[in-house]
Amino acid sequence: MALVKIPEENRTLSGQPEVTAFLAGHGIDYERWTAAHDVGADAPADTLLAAYAHEIDALKKRGGYVTADVIDVKPDTPNLDMMLAKFSREHWHDEDEVRFILEGRGLFHIHPNSGPVFAIEVEAGDLIRVPRGTHHWFDLCVDKRIRAIRLFQDVSGWTPHYTESGVDEGFEPVCFGPAYVARR
Ligand SMILES: [Fe+2]
Repeated sequence: MALVKIPEENRTLSGQPEVTAFLAGHGIDYERWTAAHDVGADAPADTLLAAYAHEIDALKKRGGYVTADVIDVKPDTPNLDMMLAKFSREHWHDEDEVRFILEGRGLFHIHPNSGPVFAIEVEAGDLIRVPRGTHHWFDLCVDKRIRAIRLFQDVSGWTPHYTESGVDEGFEPVCFGPAYVARR
């Protein structure tokens, strides 16, 4: 279950109705895919994509996505810091950023056109769609682990446009979920 934190208002939102409604107000779709398939999160990418084919096809129809893949990041991923540095500066894309989290956790910061910056901490079972053009950045939690299905509207895939606003520097890239703390 995702959590939302609004640092400027010193507010944390939890619970699916509250989180879903808040994110919907910013054009962000949030769903829980609790009907997980009988396939381990560590299964090969092709197996996972096949297991979730029905859900992926439904999403493709809804959002015009043409391709899906599995991103797999671990502490020993080569050039991890370089890769994470690309995600963690404020940017936007020409297409939606759609992620279904299979394993691990991560932290999206969203910088809306109006209103304060907020953070969304996602975990396994969370599906999130950040609309094209949304200013955002992304960090992993301290365990540096995430595995997620990604969907793309363009076969060229993920291209960030950096804003160079420096806004990201004002926010701690620290996960805050109680479940995360409890697991450590
Ligand atoms: Fe992004």
